Amino acid sequence: MKFGNTKESYGLIAIAIHWLVAFGFLGAYISVYYRHWFSEGGFSMTELNSNMIALYLHLSFGITIAVFVALRILWKLMNKTPNDVQGGGKFEHVSAHAMHWSLYAVMIIMPITGYMGTKLDTNFFFLFDIPKFNDTPLYSLIVERWLQTDWEHFEPIIDAIHKNTGAYISWLLIALHAGAALYHHVARKDIVLKRMAPWIK
Ligand code: HEM
Ligand code: HEM
Repeated sequence: MKFGNTKESYGLIAIAIHWLVAFGFLGAYISVYYRHWFSEGGFSMTELNSNMIALYLHLSFGITIAVFVALRILWKLMNKTPNDVQGGGKFEHVSAHAMHWSLYAVMIIMPITGYMGTKLDTNFFFLFDIPKFNDTPLYSLIVERWLQTDWEHFEPIIDAIHKNTGAYISWLLIALHAGAALYHHVARKDIVLKRMAPWIK
């Protein structure tokens, strides 16, 4: 299999990054919902209880996704996108493209809003030791100078975007996207899923 995409199919790099990001999303969801539904102990900056470990894992999955998404977009810009698989009407192809762009939007919005809205009073991002947004020069530039507001007003808005997109929009888009891929495989019996999952016979 080729590293790059061809007009007929996705290459190794696009396939690997697609599935790494998909598993990253799974990890981000499992960790945050584990925290909401099953973890013990409350929010604590001093004690590393299961609640905090789950939250730090969520942040780490999110930052990892951001790195892969940046690589993915770079790779997409440098590469061809395979042609649409034959069959299906124009509406189907247009919706599939609209879905892909919406998923790219979600992949960009989720890590950025997650990072910008984190009010943890620490620079310790579990696997990644990166400064939190309101300690960076970007914060003064975007929030104070550009939006002319402060953390108390900015944080609830960015947090609401992160939580609502994550809890509703992103789930829905991923379910429709994965459902469509399975429909192609099971009902249409075409190569749409196999192009992205070549190990499937
Ligand atoms: C693609 C990546 C991400 C996804 C899919 C995601 C998804 C979610 C979801 C579903 C929630 C819970 C929403 C609710 O309250 O119902 C959440 C909460 C949260 N996320 Fe993310 N997130 C991502 C990345 C990030 C990143 C990069 C950070 C920070 C660096 C972050 C920080 C947070 C925080 C602090 C919360 C609130 C904690 C909580 O409610 O338990 N997220 N995220
Ligand atoms: C079980 C889960 C998933 C399945 C079965 C799946 C399947 C597929 C398939 C078959 C394609 C190729 C579509 C085509 O050739 O037109 C594709 C492309 C794509 N998938 Fe997924 N996917 C899954 C999860 C995800 C997730 C979680 C995301 C992102 C949040 C995502 C984002 C994308 C994007 C953006 C493309 C278009 C790639 C491009 O051409 O640039 N997928 N997916």
